[in-house]
Amino acid sequence: MDRDAIKTPQVMLSQAQLTNRVAELGAEITRDYAAKDLVLVGVLKGSFMFMADLARAIDLPLRCDFLGLSSYGSSTKSTGVVAFTKDLSGPVEGRDVLIIEDIVDTGLTMAYLLKNLQTRKPASTRIASLLSKPARRQVEIDVDYLGFTIEDRFVVGYGLDFDGLYRNLPYIGTIDDGD
Ligand code: IMP
Ligand code: MG
Repeated sequence: MDRDAIKTPQVMLSQAQLTNRVAELGAEITRDYAAKDLVLVGVLKGSFMFMADLARAIDLPLRCDFLGLSSYGSSTKSTGVVAFTKDLSGPVEGRDVLIIEDIVDTGLTMAYLLKNLQTRKPASTRIASLLSKPARRQVEIDVDYLGFTIEDRFVVGYGLDFDGLYRNLPYIGTIDDGD
């Protein structure tokens, strides 16, 4: 690994900002899903840190499952080609599915996933996304629980990566030059 090529990102959203917002979202979800059969469906890999924190901020009985989706490739722009890299480990029929995503960018990944999950007959499907970049949207997506709207910058940290790296940063940062 060429460690000299790994830049220290500029902080966009601090650890404290993330902690506070995740607590608010957890409280909102706790109110909305009382008496529901909640299953959190995390989209790997980017959502793992958000999901771990959000799940602990939800004061309800719930289940957790994961699926893997890849929108190729390793550059800072997504191509819109979506593939399942891992499927859910169980059925969600009759359950209240809350998709946990790191960021909605073009919206193509969420559009594909919503369509796929519909065939499995959940009682309801909503989306919780830590981030949204509305400037890049190609298909309209309703994000029911949104952490932060951000400008069109490539961000890393708190689960989000560039070429597999930076996921372990406890904050959201930028590595582009802002152009
Ligand atoms: P989509 O363009 O909405 O389909 O976004 C697909 C996926 O691209 C997201 O779930 C992220 O995994 C990834 N992605 C989009 N924007 C960023 C970013 O700024 N940083 C890291 N990953 C991103
Ligand atoms: Mg993702």
